[in-house]
This record gives sequence, C-alpha cells and structure tokens, in this order.
Amino acid sequence: MLEIVKKFPEQVEEAMKMDIEFSVKGIKSIAVAGMGGSAISADIIKHFSKLPFFVIRDYKIPSFLNEYTLFIAISYSGNTEETLTCYKKAKRICKTFAITSGGKLSEMEENKLLIPKNMQPRAAIAYLLFPLAKFLAKNNLLYNIDLEETLYILKSNKEQMQYAAEKIANSIEGIPLIYGYGVMASIAKRWRQQLNENAKMTAFDFSLPECNHNELEAWERNGKDFTCIFLRNKDEDEKIKKRFEFMKEVYGKVIEVFSIGKNDFAKAIYLLHIGDLVSVYKAAIDGVEAEPVDLIAKLKKFLTQHSRSSS
Ligand code: F6R
Repeated sequence: MLEIVKKFPEQVEEAMKMDIEFSVKGIKSIAVAGMGGSAISADIIKHFSKLPFFVIRDYKIPSFLNEYTLFIAISYSGNTEETLTCYKKAKRICKTFAITSGGKLSEMEENKLLIPKNMQPRAAIAYLLFPLAKFLAKNNLLYNIDLEETLYILKSNKEQMQYAAEKIANSIEGIPLIYGYGVMASIAKRWRQQLNENAKMTAFDFSLPECNHNELEAWERNGKDFTCIFLRNKDEDEKIKKRFEFMKEVYGKVIEVFSIGKNDFAKAIYLLHIGDLVSVYKAAIDGVEAEPVDLIAKLKKFLTQHSRSSS
C-alpha cells in the first residue's frame, strides 16, 4: 500500500487527462451518493461548488432532489448497497451520472466515467476526485480551483511530503484526533478514515469552529491518551488562527501540519496526501497490513447473504 500511496502524484497526472463528456445544462443542484473512500471526493469538492451540493451517505435520498438535480453515484466497486439503493431512486427523478470501475452501477448507468480496476477504493482517490473536479470546473460550477497548481505541488514536494509524514507517524501516541476548518475539515475526515482503514486504529476527526462548542470541554479531563493533529493554513482567517492558538494551550500533545500553496484546493490536496502517507507509515510502524480491509469485506458479505436469505 505504501508504494501505491507514494504514486499519488503520478495517478493525479493520469486522472487529470480523463475527460467526462456530459451535458449539465439547466442543473440547479448537485447530489453525490457514495460511501467511504468513494464519498470523500465529494466531501472535498462540495467546498468549492457554486451550486447547492449534497453528499449522501445513506439508503435514502433527500426529498428535495428534483429534475434539476445532477445526481452522481460514486462507487469504486460499483456494488455498494447504499449507493445503489440511492441511485435507483434518483434515476427516476434526476439527471444521473456514475463514476465507477465496474460492477452493477456500470451495468445500470450509461452516462459514466470508468476508472482503472483492481485497486482499493481509498487508494483510487486520484481517479474518483480529479476527473470530477476537472469536469465541474470546466462547466463553471466550481469557485477558485487550480488543478495545475495542485499537480505542481504534489510533483515538486514528493520527498518532503514523505519525510514529513513519516515523522508525524512516528510521533503519534494513543488515539489520533484530527482537526480542521472548512475544506480542511473534510481533509481531517480523510485522515481519520485512512488511519482507520490502513493503520487499523481508532481515530476521530473534528471541525472548527463547532468543536469549540463541545469537544473543547473534554479537555478538562483528557490526558495523555491522544495525539491532536491540527491541519492548518498559514493564511487562515484571524478568527480561526486565534481558536487554534487557544486550543494549543489547552490540549495535550499537538502536532500542527501546515499546507503550502496559493490555491485552497491545492492546499487541501497537499495535506490529504500527507495524511494518506501518515496512515501507511503508521501501519508499517505498528506492524499491521495496510491493504486488506477484512472486516469491511466480511460485513458486506454478511449483508448480502442475509438479504438473500430474508428475501
Ligand atoms: C476500501 C474503502 C471503503 C469503500 C466503501 C465503499 O478501500 O475505502 O471505504 O470505499 O466500502 O465501497 P465502494 O467504494 O466500492 O463503493
């Protein structure tokens, strides 16, 4: 997995060459259904959307979706139960599109982007995120997204990112708690998911300023069982800067990770990649195998067998 994650800059370069040909004329909102490693790309893109943008991780679709909604089903395998259930419902109402490597979703939807097969969904983020970002940007549906700067930063800082990630992975003690503001809150979620799936460890993510209204209070009692990771921008809003400074004084062990770059999307993807690397280095340090997700696979199998036997 470490070698695959290290190839992210090259994967982004390849993914940026992929084109989505599809008409978005007349759409007034965007809804993306997906789970886990497939849904996170939508969590990131939503921060840059000019239109109302909803991420659905459920069996149900919101009642406000209509014929002006572009509904995108993202499932790497194309077989995820929740995503397929939403897709079937949305197909009757919305304009639909799919991003997948195959499976049932590919069979059902003719408007689709097919991405490379035989990867772990979470390791295919370049293909799940970049063609979609490029397509939406080309159709003037995103604000302030610079894909060229993003690629440049990833390619020109490869060793530096690996070095930083290894150092962070070595410094994590206890349960990692990851904090971010705005798009960095979605990147904090990605760090948490990757630590869960690759390093097989419990981790939590929090977004500012909300966590200052509840989670902060836990630090009256929290001790040495956690490592707090703050995902920050050097040019962040003064109000956010002050909040992080306060938290640094109150929280236990804190590691601050600062983005580089000018564009907010580029900054986010830089920290995303560091987080992905941290998770695979942490797996190696703890002697766990990063790639297999046996319990997730076991649950999916159990649910399939159960639904067959109960139908
Ligand atoms: C596995 C992973 C999972 C899957 C999720 C949904 O690498 O990241 O979180 O992404 O179980 O499956 P797909 O992506 O196939 O729809």
